[in-house]
Amino acid sequence: MAHHITLLPGDGIGPEVVEATLLVLDATGVAFVWDRQEEVGQAAVEKYGEPLPGHILDSIRENKTALKGPITTPVGKGFRSVNVSLRQHLDLYANVRPCSNLPGIETPFPDVDLIIFRENTEGLYSGIENYDPRLEIADSIARITRKGSERIIRFCFEYARRQGRNMVTLAHKANILKQSSGMFLHEGQKIAEEFPDITFNDRIIDNMCMQLVMYPQRYDCIVTTNLFGDLLSDLAAGLVGGLGVVSGANIGDEYAVFEAVHGSAPDIAGQGKANPTALIRTAEMMLRHLGEMNAADAIRKALRDIYSEGQTLTADVGGQAHTMEFADALAKRVDTLVSA
Ligand code: NAI
Ligand code: MG
Repeated sequence: MAHHITLLPGDGIGPEVVEATLLVLDATGVAFVWDRQEEVGQAAVEKYGEPLPGHILDSIRENKTALKGPITTPVGKGFRSVNVSLRQHLDLYANVRPCSNLPGIETPFPDVDLIIFRENTEGLYSGIENYDPRLEIADSIARITRKGSERIIRFCFEYARRQGRNMVTLAHKANILKQSSGMFLHEGQKIAEEFPDITFNDRIIDNMCMQLVMYPQRYDCIVTTNLFGDLLSDLAAGLVGGLGVVSGANIGDEYAVFEAVHGSAPDIAGQGKANPTALIRTAEMMLRHLGEMNAADAIRKALRDIYSEGQTLTADVGGQAHTMEFADALAKRVDTLVSA
């Protein structure tokens, strides 16, 4: 039976890394029926007058699963982030961002294996913003709910237990943000008692940043609120080779949208320079979510092989290959592995 998936190529490097990822998915032999939604963000504003038209949400609600490329958000003006809106509309409260080394990429630490669990629907990204032009005062409210805190922290502990991981660190700023971050920390301490098999500790976010760039190998699963999780996941990406190689998933109780951590990278868009590894690893997460473990394992193994050999890598990780050259080489490996 084919999997019906909504496909959002997005903009910037999105269409390039999506094309590369589809080539690799095709090589797995898993059957997909893609509902391709080209116009989203600025393109949808031009065509439909809104950045996230209802038919896109309807498609994801029907298929339950989406694979998406990045979508540009105008900075400091213009429409609200489609990425944030999607997560809120579909209640995709858990943003799961694994960061681990690939062979052959030189980094300061050889043994990083982290998963960041970012609360994805509230906090400073709640969208509760106000500007009072008379007083020239701007507010952006960091709304945290007990329910929202509880479900992301529980999600993290359960995920850790399922994957045989043994430590959860909660990152917060409860010394200063006594209400919002304080409630998040308190929920974490309470839930941790239900998981005596998993070590629990917490770090104040500024210290967490320092710890991660000095001793990343001491950390395992990190759960945190929306803004902190956004920042920590780019930081953690930097530990293992950059935004070109780290995957991500937005998961809720009903739907899942798979997208890499990186954005639309306008500085390299349209030049064949983008590394599709991040979205390919994201597709690997999607395959596991769909129960296609053999296909996911084949992608994982083929990626490790290609990176160990180091012959066909993109420029961000020290190679010279173009996006599709890398994808072609990888797809051939995947094909060989699944037909063996
Ligand atoms: P970015 O992640 O697009 O780029 C940051 C740096 O990393 C750039 O130098 C870029 O060239 C590099 N980079 C990113 N992905 C890469 C890849 N696959 N291969 C090689 N190099 C890669 O972040 P930036 O520049 O801050 O944001 C650009 C736009 O993307 C903004 O409009 C932002 O709102 C949007 N964005 C969208 C996201 C999403 O759709 N989920 C997530 C993050 C940002
Ligand atoms: Mg980000």
